[in-house]
Amino acid sequence: MIKLGIIGTGGMANAQAQNFSKIKNVEIVAACDIVDEKVKDFAKQYNIPKTFTDIDDMLKKAEIDAVSNVTPDAFHAAVSLKIIESGKHILCEKPLATNYTDAKKMADAAKAKGVINMVNFSYRNSSAIQKAHEIIEKGEIGRVMHVDASYLQSWLSSKGWGDWHTRTAWLWRLSKSHGSLGVLGDVGVHIIDFTSFPAGKIKSVNCKLKTFHKAENDKIGEYNLDANDSAIISVEFQNGAIGTIHTTRWATGYQNTLELRIFGDKGAIKINLDKAYDKLEICCGENIDKSQWKTIDCGKTPNIYERFINSILTGQNDQPDFARGAEIQKILDACVESDETKNIVEV
Ligand SMILES: NC(=O)c1ccc[n+]([C@@H]2O[C@H](COP(=O)([O-])OP(=O)(O)OC[C@H]3O[C@@H](n4cnc5c(N)ncnc54)[C@H](O)[C@@H]3O)[C@@H](O)[C@H]2O)c1
Repeated sequence: MIKLGIIGTGGMANAQAQNFSKIKNVEIVAACDIVDEKVKDFAKQYNIPKTFTDIDDMLKKAEIDAVSNVTPDAFHAAVSLKIIESGKHILCEKPLATNYTDAKKMADAAKAKGVINMVNFSYRNSSAIQKAHEIIEKGEIGRVMHVDASYLQSWLSSKGWGDWHTRTAWLWRLSKSHGSLGVLGDVGVHIIDFTSFPAGKIKSVNCKLKTFHKAENDKIGEYNLDANDSAIISVEFQNGAIGTIHTTRWATGYQNTLELRIFGDKGAIKINLDKAYDKLEICCGENIDKSQWKTIDCGKTPNIYERFINSILTGQNDQPDFARGAEIQKILDACVESDETKNIVEV
């Protein structure tokens, strides 16, 4: 039985607790949040015996093998480095850090300490993306040439997930000084991983970021609303393909939609997670001349939580690990540099 601690008991920690509770080899034995009321409520809801408001205290006193770091982005590096130093296996929420220097430090520290380390690029839980990776690896759509990917959310124009004007979980995501890299760091990170996992490593980026006016003086309480809301990235891949990746929080009518199309010289694949997590469409062979698509049932794939626990049990670190998290962070840094300098930036 793996004994797990969770740090940061806000919105995403609920999804994590529900997922970990379904795995038979894991028991959540401790939880920590700087807000005592929050951690107590969370512990009550998931029957977690021990609560803490101090990370050092939890790492010292709780008998745990592994920790999940579900704090806001700004705290990922500092909290993760403490967890690694204590010798516990670690799952860290995305983005791994707020910059490549910190992300690399975390990946190096985890490697040096020999702990299992994974970053929660949760859309890897889609068996369609795993299948897409396999199809492209086998050369079934030939040479990858053109890629088109998007991640669309609408929580700035809708109240589908609550009112962002009043909820801290949304406000910190809008504020650079609270450690947010805007939509780029929040969900751009997902679509960059989702795209480059099957399509190949990204060589260079040309990125435009935009922050729209949305409140008086673009400020609400302690939150300066200065983090980007929309990102458009032209990319070139190491394999020679080119593509666009774009993401926004202003996509009215789309709550949480990831779409990916990859075109090769022998075929094409497309995925729309709104339609299905476990199906992709492919156009290849004799269907090319008719522009007809065939749906492939991609079956099941272990989710990140299962992969993390299996990695601890087997000692074999599954993907996506911290090194992958750092690789994606380097792309985010390149996007910011590209936007600031208005240049194409090599990753
Ligand atoms: N993988 C995914 O699909 C996914 C989805 C949503 C959120 N996330 C990530 O999960 C993380 C948390 O997001 P959220 O939506 O749950 O945010 P949230 O604001 O709802 O919750 C964060 C919690 O962390 C606590 N906290 C803040 N600083 C802390 C510290 N130093 N030590 C301990 N606790 C601290 C807060 O009190 C709060 O309860 C973020 O990094 C976010 O990007 C990932």
